[in-house]
Amino acid sequence: MDRIRVRGGRQLNGRIAIGGAKNAALPLMATGLLTEGPVVLRNAPDLADIATMAGLLRQHGLSVEHDKAARTLTLSGNVNNLEAPYDLVRKMRASVLVLGPLVARFGRARVSLPGGCAIGTRPVDLHLKGLEAMGATITLDAGYINAEAPNGGKGRLHGGRILFPQVSVGATENLLMAAALADGVTELVNAAREPEIEDLCLLLNAMGAKIEGLGTDRLRVEGVAELHGADHSIIPDRIEAGTYACAAAITGGEVLLEGAGLTHLGAFARTLREAGVAVEEVPDGLTVSRLNGLHGVDAMTEPYPGFATDMQAQFMALMAVAEGASMLTETIFENRFMHVPELNRMGARINVHGSSAIVRGVARLSGAQVMATDLRASVSLVLAGLAAEGETIVNRVYHLDRGYERVEAKLAAVGADVERIAG
Ligand code: UD1
Repeated sequence: MDRIRVRGGRQLNGRIAIGGAKNAALPLMATGLLTEGPVVLRNAPDLADIATMAGLLRQHGLSVEHDKAARTLTLSGNVNNLEAPYDLVRKMRASVLVLGPLVARFGRARVSLPGGCAIGTRPVDLHLKGLEAMGATITLDAGYINAEAPNGGKGRLHGGRILFPQVSVGATENLLMAAALADGVTELVNAAREPEIEDLCLLLNAMGAKIEGLGTDRLRVEGVAELHGADHSIIPDRIEAGTYACAAAITGGEVLLEGAGLTHLGAFARTLREAGVAVEEVPDGLTVSRLNGLHGVDAMTEPYPGFATDMQAQFMALMAVAEGASMLTETIFENRFMHVPELNRMGARINVHGSSAIVRGVARLSGAQVMATDLRASVSLVLAGLAAEGETIVNRVYHLDRGYERVEAKLAAVGADVERIAG
């Protein structure tokens, strides 16, 4: 298993190119099931999760070509298998995004239940209730979700008014794709507003869907009989950008994040500034640098445009070396502090009380052998390593590879002493 070795204490200076957003790419790829295509996705990142989604779509019968040099994914062809097996779904929860498209277009689907994961139980009840409100019959057996459209799968889903009791990115995406091919109008109320949702709406509309309310929490979808192929460019990864912003801030250098934008960072940019980090929009992207010292600020994770839960671990690494205390409250997932004991092993002073972590800044962290079982937690340990005295070895790098493209190369190119150790 590969590991990453970081020797801390170097300032980062230079430019980092931000790739296409993983969390936009995954639902965008699922639209390949809604049409014979071709759906062409540009600015596609080269990540383990993208390969997993490509594998899942191929076993449904699609042709998925990933031209890595051109950063383009091309999806086309016919679906000949309506089952998403456990072995693929358990690797990545976003696999459940095939459910809505399959049942809307083919009248039935059988998809493994994703089950729990390292950051919490993460149920899919909102996905299923929404599909039921659109006329699907859902049964669960042997760990699988069976979904069937009306008339024993021969009819089409119908529109309806779906009020989400809780904001869910994945459920909003699944139901948007289903509604695009349903009979009549579907209204999604209290829908997620993440930029990745807007990106999905833009692609669906380019494929012939009729969606209104883009960027708001109220989406209106008028179903159409069929969708066609389209060509779409994936938005830049706001979480990758936010992560490298933390890298610049924790080392005290100045980094230009090429392609990143302020709006997509939501409340995270504001919080960074409060902590003493300069974040400026420039024609090529965003520049990030530390002003004087870092100071502790409180933050609470919320759906977009609030502070993203996917930035909580990285921001905690930053707060670990800030002056004063900060309180980071996690409201989205119930168990998303597994980086805390590892950061503490590096000399951080963090206590967890329920859903809040109290971080008391220390002058210096020290390198250690660490590991984490979640993507964002893993990268927070790399960030801590950049600021730590001595050597940090981050184990189980495959978590990082799910969502960060060549993290060690990108950091090394701006001056970090970091390398991948194969094995
Ligand atoms: C997506 C992101 C993930 C991010 C999360 C929150 C992708 C591929 N993943 O995950 O990186 O951390 O949004 O911004 O885009 N919930 C239910 N029932 C459901 C669905 C969700 O109770 O049917 C709960 C979840 O357990 C969680 C909350 O709702 O507590 C938000 O989850 P959701 O927005 O659905 O996250 P994902 O789409 O899985």
